[in-house]
Formats: sequence, structure tokens, C-alpha cells
Amino acid sequence: MCGIVGYVGNKEAAVFLLEGLSKLEYRGYDSAGIAVYDGSEIRVEKSVGRLAALKDKIGSNMPKGSLGIGHTRWATHGRPSDSNAHPHADCSGDFVVVHNGIIENYLNLKEELIEKGHAFRSETDTEVVAHLLEEVYHGDFEAAVRDVLRRIDGSYSLVFLSKKHPDRLICTKQDNPLVIGLGEGENFIASDIPAIIQRTRRTFIMNDGEVAVVTKDSVTITNRRGEPVQKKVFEVNWNAEAAEKGGYEHFMLKEIHEQPKAVRDTMSQRIAKDGSAIVIDELKWDAAFLNSFNKIYIVACGTAYHAGMVGKYYIEKLARVLVEVDVASEFRYRDPIVDENTLLIVVSQSGETSDTLAALKESKRLGAKTLAITNVVGSSIAREADQVLYTWAGPEIAVASTKAYTTQLILFFMLALYMAEIKKTVSPERVKELIKLLKQIPAQVSETLSDVDPIKTFARQYGFNEDVFYIGRSLDYDVALEGSLKLKEVSYIHAEAYAAGELKHGTLALIVEGVPVIALATQKSVYEKTLSNIKEVKARDAVVIGIAAEGDEELEKYVDHVIKVPETDELLIPILTVVPLQLLAYYAAITRGCDVDKPRNLAKSVTVE
Ligand code: G6P
Repeated sequence: MCGIVGYVGNKEAAVFLLEGLSKLEYRGYDSAGIAVYDGSEIRVEKSVGRLAALKDKIGSNMPKGSLGIGHTRWATHGRPSDSNAHPHADCSGDFVVVHNGIIENYLNLKEELIEKGHAFRSETDTEVVAHLLEEVYHGDFEAAVRDVLRRIDGSYSLVFLSKKHPDRLICTKQDNPLVIGLGEGENFIASDIPAIIQRTRRTFIMNDGEVAVVTKDSVTITNRRGEPVQKKVFEVNWNAEAAEKGGYEHFMLKEIHEQPKAVRDTMSQRIAKDGSAIVIDELKWDAAFLNSFNKIYIVACGTAYHAGMVGKYYIEKLARVLVEVDVASEFRYRDPIVDENTLLIVVSQSGETSDTLAALKESKRLGAKTLAITNVVGSSIAREADQVLYTWAGPEIAVASTKAYTTQLILFFMLALYMAEIKKTVSPERVKELIKLLKQIPAQVSETLSDVDPIKTFARQYGFNEDVFYIGRSLDYDVALEGSLKLKEVSYIHAEAYAAGELKHGTLALIVEGVPVIALATQKSVYEKTLSNIKEVKARDAVVIGIAAEGDEELEKYVDHVIKVPETDELLIPILTVVPLQLLAYYAAITRGCDVDKPRNLAKSVTVE
């Protein structure tokens, strides 16, 4: 996720570009840059770090001109650095481009362009777009952009500026947001409404495949086939703060709803085109090396630790390797048995959690090989680990982690399947079947998010209870732990998760009339046993909300309410069942009037031990 802006008009472009980018820093902030056409040249200014660093660098020497583009970056391909910051230019410097998204086939294109003599200055996927534009340009800017679009795969919103056409910007999008703000004698382009709301409330919201040619007095939009599109003006009636959250009341809710895209982005580049295999090109270890470890530790904190528990299940089940999971603050102090035959996998959304970082350093000292799963390119954990796998969730702002968890699960599943392919512990047919189901997950997460009303009702009904219990077996238990953590974090309701079979060994004493119990029952191998445990709590007059897969007609006979998620393999279903639990926590917090995005006593990134 990155933020992009564009300006064409009569005023100083740089002023708007910097102002607009400051409203988009929530989309990424590891580097920033602007490009402004000054009447003869395109001046590009960029800097690693937050927008403030770019402003410091520019100082009073603002680029002059009324045509420009800008970018605030959330690194994906290439670490945060001056050279990887956008805008990116072609060899001649005649074209510059800003991009939000991932160009999936950039490596092939890059090789091809290098062969044709193009010189690259960055490690980014985006730079190929600028060089490709230079390559296919024959005097018609729009035709060249369309040619580029035909050649690139992936997700993007893009704004193009050409020195040869200084009256216009061209922009387009696929799977990433883009809006055009309509002014008087000036027009604006941005990833999101907060960037333009100070200047105009009249907008066009771009759809996938549309191409807009934007001059100071006109906006001409055509579809993929080049046919004109008549767009309705969308009048923004939110205030600036609401706009930053994309119209959602809180970042947590926004991030919950971003999950279909986040999980899709995380998986998309790692599946072979024919769907027969997982491809993890970033992993520089060969198959034999990956299978040479006799032990794997997964170490993390909070939500990432819960993702690690699911990761353990996946790796053991699919790749048949012994895995231990531990919280980072415990791991280091228990004198773990770690040596050169150990693989340590650390999981961290921020890549900065100090306990996790310390566990990583200690394991390296003891000789382990280390692999990080993180969401932040260039973070301390990413830099310290031997190998890194990134979740492509985009910046997570709310303290309570949501999209990071589901993308971590996707990555663990893919890693386990990748290891299984190599070890041949899973048949090629089963691998194909699981990949097919994996690809359905983004749409199924969307479906799960499509009807939140019953969840809102439960939150209102039970939001004032002081205790809530979550139960489940196998993977359902792991998800129960995450569900109960979400509820505690944001609503301050005392919540506990138990392995359903363990309840009778003590905790059942707490189950009395009216106590809400959230019971997950999606794991077929332990389904009957889970039902027995549900009957145990029902016999003590608990109120039970069951979580089941579509097609399960049994559970509703034994519980008070049921929330259903789409059917998939029981290995993948945690990525769906966690979604109603996130929503339940969110709406319970709203019911209780809690500050959802900034829960008391908590911090997003914990950099103290
Ligand atoms: C903090 C956050 C949690 C998060 C944990 C680990 O406690 O409040 O939401 O799960 O840190 O963070 P990490 O960035 O390492 O995943």
C-alpha cells in the first residue's frame, strides 16, 4: 500500500503534492518523493523516511511548476531507500511514474528491458513501468500508456507524467484505489479522498481498467477498450478525519474490511500460473536445505503468536516436521535447545517487537537459521533474519491486529504446502486441490464480511456481559485464542479461550446461566467431540453462539445462535472463522463506548521488553 497524488492546474503543484501526501501517510511512510515539470525539465525530489524528511531536504527550494506527481511509499519490492522511493523515471528522464500496488511480472519485463539497453536505478517493480513507457512511446502518450497496461500484470494505481505532454497527467487503476478531484482550472489525482478534500469535494471515483487523461480544464475517461465512460460526480460529504478512514468509523473496521485484498495480495505472486504449485522465489534456500532442519521453532508475540500456533499445525500436518511455538518473552529465558539444525521462524507484523527481535538475535547466536514473516519491509526483524517472507497487508494502523493475522495464516499455509511439495508428504492432486481452495479465500472473506448485522445484534445483546468464553478443538482452538484476545483488547470484556476438551478440568465451574460461550465447530475430525463439549456448557445454561461452516445443519440444534462462514478445507477455515470474531470484538467495543483504535494501556508496536 502506498499513497499517490497528482496535480495539473495554475497553481504551484508542489504545494498540493506535499499537502496531499501528508494526508496519505497512513498508507505508507518509509520514503516519499515528488516530480514537478518546471517548463523545461522534470525535477524529481525524493527521500527515505517520512514526508518530513522530504520536506527538510527540499527546504525553501520548492520545485516550481503547475504539473506534478507525488508518492509516499510502503515498501514492497526493494528496501526503503532514496533510490527506491518514487517517482521513477525512464532512461531519458522524459517520463515519470508513481505507483501503488505490485507489478507481478516485473522481473521478466526488467530482463527484457535491460537486454534492450535500459539502465535501472532502483530495485523496485515500478521502475519497469517507466522504462516500458519509454520503449513503447511513439508520439501518442495515451496509446503508449495503454500499451504498457497490456504488458503488465498485477495490481496498480498509476499516474504518468511526460515532459513531452506538459498539459496533462494520465492515470489508471487495477485493484488499488484512485480518485480524481475536480477543481476550477485545476484537477487533482489521489489514492484517497483525504488528500484532496481541502481543495474540492467533487470527485470521480475511478474503476478498474479505466484510463483518465487529466488536464487543468478537463477529465476524459475511457474504459479498457478505449470507449468513453460517462462518470457521475461523487460529492464527498464526510469530514477530513472520516475520509482518512475511507468512510469507516475506525481503522480497525477499515482494516477488517481490507482483508479480502490483503490476503489476495499476499498469495497472488506465490502461486504457479497453472495452479499446480506454490512458488516462493524470495526464499533463497533450496529444497534440500529447507528439509535439513530437525526442529522448527515459531516465536512471536500477541496476535502473531496466535498465527504461529496455526503455522505449527500447518507445517506439522502438511510437511510432517516437528514444530514448537513459543511467546518471544518466554523463549529466550528458558534456555531453548537451539543449534545449527534448528530453523527459527519469527512472526511480527511491525518487525520491531523487541522480544521477538531479541529471540531472533539469540537464536542466531546459537547457530540457528532464521526466517522472518513480517509486514514491514526493511524493519529491524526483516534486516536481522537470514530470510524474509513478507505479508502484503499494507500498513496496519489500529492497535488490534486483524489483516496482519489473516495474511500471516496465508503465508504459513503456503510455506507448509511448499515444504510438503518438496518433501512429497502431500500428493500433487491434494496440493492442487488445496491451491484451488486457497484461491477462493479472498472472495470467501468478502462473503463473510457481507452480512454484519447479526454480529452487531449479538454485540448489543452480550456486549455488557463481564465474561465471555471461547472454545474449540484443534485449529478452532487456535482461532478461539485470537478471538478472545481481540475481545479483551478492544472491549475490555474478560474473555478466555479454552481447548473445548479441557474445559471440564476446572473452568467449567465458571459456566453459569447466561454466560456467553462462543463455540467454534469447523474441524471435522473432532466435530462430535466438540458437540459434546457444547452440550456440557449448554447443560449449565450458557448462551452459546456457534461458528460453523455452511452446510452444517447439525450445530444449530444445540446452540442458541449460529454464525456461518463459507465452506472450505478445514485447514483453511481459520482464515474465515476469525473474521466474525474480529467483528464481534469491534462491535462489542462500540456498544461499550471504547476507543477502538487506541485501547487503554496498549501500543501497536512494543519496543520494550
Ligand atoms: C502489540 C500489539 C499486538 C501485536 C503484538 C505483536 O502487543 O498490540 O496487536 O500482536 O504487539 O506485534 P508484532 O508487530 O510483532 O506482530
